[in-house]
Amino acid sequence: MIHLAEDTISQAELINLSQWVVENNRLTKGPLCKQFENEFAKWQGSKYAVFVNSGSSANLLMAQSLLESGRLKNKKVIAPGVSWCTTVTPFIQLGFDVSLCDCDANDLGLDVEHLEELCKRENPSIIICVHVLGHPNKMDKIKQICDKYGAVLLEDSCEALGSVYKGKKCGSIGLAGSFSFYYGHHISTIEGGMVVTDDNELYNLMLSIRSHGWARDVEDKYHDSWTNEYNIDEIRDLYTFYYSGFNLRSTDLNAFLGLSQLNKIDEYAKIRNRNYNIYAKELCDFWCQTSECDFLSHFAYGVLVQNRLEVYKHMIKNGVEVRPLICGNIGLHPFWIKKYGAQNLKNADVVHNFGLYLPNHAKLGEDEVKYICDKFKEVALVKMPSGKDSFVV
Ligand SMILES: Cc1ncc(COP(=O)(O)O)c(C=O)c1O
Repeated sequence: MIHLAEDTISQAELINLSQWVVENNRLTKGPLCKQFENEFAKWQGSKYAVFVNSGSSANLLMAQSLLESGRLKNKKVIAPGVSWCTTVTPFIQLGFDVSLCDCDANDLGLDVEHLEELCKRENPSIIICVHVLGHPNKMDKIKQICDKYGAVLLEDSCEALGSVYKGKKCGSIGLAGSFSFYYGHHISTIEGGMVVTDDNELYNLMLSIRSHGWARDVEDKYHDSWTNEYNIDEIRDLYTFYYSGFNLRSTDLNAFLGLSQLNKIDEYAKIRNRNYNIYAKELCDFWCQTSECDFLSHFAYGVLVQNRLEVYKHMIKNGVEVRPLICGNIGLHPFWIKKYGAQNLKNADVVHNFGLYLPNHAKLGEDEVKYICDKFKEVALVKMPSGKDSFVV
């Protein structure tokens, strides 16, 4: 079976981890988490990184920390229709008004015309984007829109670890960016996630909110200012909760893996990029996701196909795992419909009904990609003619 994803953790890494586990007695968040955060931030080109237990937790941490920062002019957010449930649900859970934006027909990120329309109507305080399957959004234009409407830009970069847009890695372009290290993502800490930011205040809020809202992990200047403001003595400080927090921590065990995984990320990204190029050449009739990027650290290969169910069954029969193109349109999922009613979005609906993604991972060889393409072409019916209007239903 050719799987959508393969574990990136090697046997040698597991043996090293086992040795480390028996020799160490502090396995919860400790020095290795800090070291992993520092090295990740450096690799990413961000000032700060906060290690958490999943990409979903990373999104929740960004949302709650911004809410607690007191910087938001309202509780309105614009999120992408083509995204992931936990890109959107933290905002719903925290009581934000969420508006869904349609996707761009080429990169599947935010459609900038629809975004501007929504901004005029909603005047949001936050815009969150998702770099779908590794392709960056139109970040220059989106940043301009954010500046014009006074909105903060967040990047859910869980599928784009290592992709570069105009000299900057995805996740480090907006105020904060999130990553997932779940099995099957570019690198894995079994479960895990990270938030990066250059904003010192937001960073310290995240350190607090990640751990119950206490001040133990924050930098001295914040610690001193919070204890002074509330007149908290040394003993009381140990169990004083300054913000409405969660426990989103990971462990040194996961950080141990993260540190060795970081050494492999560049090599993995190159293999994923090579595979994308083979797919793009072989399957150009089935729409081709493209973006303005300097380097594509590709996640999985998206196609649009008329007879999706038939293709799905044919691929499984031939030993190739395939899935829908992430969520399609989040506005057509039961959790959204129950709360707000179905929300159709022109392009996102096409992805919802015809989108499929094919495997890509660091262990996938060129011959395997070609085999997948051959099997796919045996039954796949072109959704629409290729060319400029290819996305129109
Ligand atoms: C865009 C996006 N955001 C968030 C997540 C959630 O990450 P995790 O599974 O680590 O919670 C995913 C997972 O695939 C994702 O694709």
